[in-house]
Amino acid sequence: MNILILGSGGREHALAYKIAQSKQCKKLFVAPGNAGTANLATNLTVNPNDFDQVKDLVITHQIEMLIVGPEDPLVNGIQDFFASDKALQHVHLIGPSKEGARLEGSKERAKEFMQNHQIPTAAYQSFNASQVNEAKKFLTQLKPPYVLKADGLAAGKGVLIIEDLKEAENALDEMLTQQKFGEASSKVVIEEFLDGIELSVFVLTDGKNYKILPNAKDYKRIGEGDTGLNTGGMGAISPVPFADENFMKHVEEDIVQPTIHGLQKENINYKGFVFIGLMKVGDKAKVIEYNVRMGDPETEVVLPRIESDLLEALSALKEQKLNQINLQISPSSATTLMLVSGGYPEAYEKGKNITGLDQVGNDAIVFHAGTKADGNQILTNGGRVLAITAVGNDFKDALKISYKYGKIIDFEGKYYRTDLGKDLEEFIN
Ligand code: AMP
Ligand code: GLY
Repeated sequence: MNILILGSGGREHALAYKIAQSKQCKKLFVAPGNAGTANLATNLTVNPNDFDQVKDLVITHQIEMLIVGPEDPLVNGIQDFFASDKALQHVHLIGPSKEGARLEGSKERAKEFMQNHQIPTAAYQSFNASQVNEAKKFLTQLKPPYVLKADGLAAGKGVLIIEDLKEAENALDEMLTQQKFGEASSKVVIEEFLDGIELSVFVLTDGKNYKILPNAKDYKRIGEGDTGLNTGGMGAISPVPFADENFMKHVEEDIVQPTIHGLQKENINYKGFVFIGLMKVGDKAKVIEYNVRMGDPETEVVLPRIESDLLEALSALKEQKLNQINLQISPSSATTLMLVSGGYPEAYEKGKNITGLDQVGNDAIVFHAGTKADGNQILTNGGRVLAITAVGNDFKDALKISYKYGKIIDFEGKYYRTDLGKDLEEFIN
């Protein structure tokens, strides 16, 4: 089978790494890809949101499966574009329809979906620009901190958590009437603050059947102890030690099953990944958000723990035969450490020479996030540069390896968090 993966980050490198191992994989392409994917696959130039360009690649390279890495092509309707074009209808696209992708593309839609299907989530109300006064009144009925969310996609910046009521009111004005996040904040969801510990659960579904993939914890903030600005993710650990069997049974019964049934009841075409962001409050989980794709850097720890052929499982989505697949998950722990460019997530420089990659042994896998090849050199080409994944008996063993190479691999301005897993130590013996 000829396969094309759309995207260019660590997630796409990890997907390529896993798919390339399958006997069913004939030719593998990544578009646009990075210097890491170039070692496993053929990189092709494309703008993933220009569907005519994607179509040209699919036809030229006789692609049979298209795996959509990031959310924006899905939210923009790439699945519907393929389904409605006779020349593309045969292509097995991994990712939901535009309607399905609204679970990530609109916070209000996600909340309505959860409410319709009795899926536990924070209490909320949503408001548009003509309802600023009602929105402010609603704020006064809540206890601080106040959680304000731009309805649409805002590159991970659309959620504000504010202690002070006055500041929250000002932020509401900025979002609703001054379009702080552009069109994305023409509606705002205000919700109850959930005090707990976060984790992510990943599900593969054919719209009828589902498989729960390894869960993971992401480190979102730039600074030690989860401080400073939000990033795409500074590292991840799988499995999450506090997500024990009982907790995961509750998540499966009260969140995963109603989610899949909800998709079915609403006749939503969904063949792909569901990434469920959860807050564990006491013993119970509440959904913070849905994403309609895999996480990054979570993919870099989730996929290395899947022992079965992922391509076989993805193929089974086409005829809704995922129930016939048996996924073997490794009991080991996987960790990934993100090396980022100095200044990230704000302004940073690119084009720095990366050294030390040749010293990485077979005890780790270095997934490229933002890199580009220049002759024999590998240069930085993004905020997040490399994700160093290792596997061990527990997350501490794995982290030792990730950090060993985090020191060895170098580039000007390199930064990484040194506290991954510290928050999880209390949950292990
Ligand atoms: P989201 O973009 O919805 O994932 O939100 C970004 C981050 O804001 C989440 O990862 C949480 O850390 C935090 N967050 C979102 N909603 C809530 C909430 N209701 N209570 C507490 N924290 C929240
Ligand atoms: N690491 C969080 C995300 O992929 O959205």
